[in-house]
Amino acid sequence: MILSPEDEAILAGGEGETRARMMEILFALGKVYGAERLIPIASAQVSGASYKTIGRWGLDWIQHLDAKVSVPTVLNPVGMDRLKWRDMGISPEFAKNQEDVLEAYRKLGVIMECTCTPYYLYITRYGEHLAWSESSAVAYANSVIGARTNREGGPGALAAAIIGKTPEYGLHLVKARVPQVVIRVGGGTRMHDPAHFGALGYRAGTLVGNRIPIFEGIRPGRDHLKALGAAMAASGAVALFHVKDITPDSRIFSYSTEGLEVISVEFDEIETCMKKVPVDAVALGCPQCSPEELTRIAELLEGKAVRIPVFIFTSRDVAARHPREVAAIEASGARVYADTCMVVSPAMERIGTIMVNSGKAFAYVPDMCGAGVRLGTTEECIDVATQQRDAVA
Ligand code: F3S
Repeated sequence: MILSPEDEAILAGGEGETRARMMEILFALGKVYGAERLIPIASAQVSGASYKTIGRWGLDWIQHLDAKVSVPTVLNPVGMDRLKWRDMGISPEFAKNQEDVLEAYRKLGVIMECTCTPYYLYITRYGEHLAWSESSAVAYANSVIGARTNREGGPGALAAAIIGKTPEYGLHLVKARVPQVVIRVGGGTRMHDPAHFGALGYRAGTLVGNRIPIFEGIRPGRDHLKALGAAMAASGAVALFHVKDITPDSRIFSYSTEGLEVISVEFDEIETCMKKVPVDAVALGCPQCSPEELTRIAELLEGKAVRIPVFIFTSRDVAARHPREVAAIEASGARVYADTCMVVSPAMERIGTIMVNSGKAFAYVPDMCGAGVRLGTTEECIDVATQQRDAVA
């Protein structure tokens, strides 16, 4: 990999110890993956922010860094709502450690937004290069926006944020973005809820692994695409997908799918994920809710009271811009939390079985929260929570 004279000067320590170490990380990544150069990035999103996942060692590492980020940078969801952590049952000790992690990032110039949906916070454009970490955000950026990012580890994303560049390899290169397998969906017109696309993504991820799929036979909206990509990134390792005639790369490049393996998936087959089992709580917002999803949940809860705990997760920015929707949801007894999510917060570990409308949560909740999980449409989740349908079904 060839470094520019400015990059060489940073590597030699001319701009301080931390920037030199960060350049070392980028240089090492570039060499491993065969990059020829570093390219500028428009923004970064850094994982490794929840104290639940990084612990004391991670906190110490971030605290010893001494530099500022060079591009707009946000964090992944952390282990608690920064304002309502007591309400979530978070211990003061965990809250203190979590705040220490955030303070360490704040000193680096990171924006204090803890979100897996940074695309609602700042405008991200087609063709922009990014260094994002969280798998669903990466899938959305690459597939729905047509921006370009590899799935960065926490240190790689932070190094890119501080230097303002990333090695040019993988999904930054157009030639690496072509479809590798076709998924033909039968009965796709019956799919209308994020849960259907989450279930499809969950199934597809297990079938394609880390290959780039192109879907045929579905007409998803943006929130559906978000659910599809999040689930595929969880059950497989998909960082980019295309949907014929819908996603930007599939419209702009004339890909040939001739000769590619074709996998057929039927709606009835994916619906088998949605088994009815008794639940103790409902959690929605994985990935964190969009404004439209908050509005829909508020509408579904209007005039109703929840009978079991209901947790709705969104970003602080989206919550702050939609106070009426948040108030309407909370009037039912459901709680809206920001900065965190059902998977990274220790608050969800005390629940027996959680009902979700997300294929990603369906994949992660059992291992990450030690809880049982049930997948249902948003409407079914609200019906169960308000016992319009039998929670024990
Ligand atoms: Fe986001 Fe947490 Fe789901 S980070 S994608 S809400 S597991």
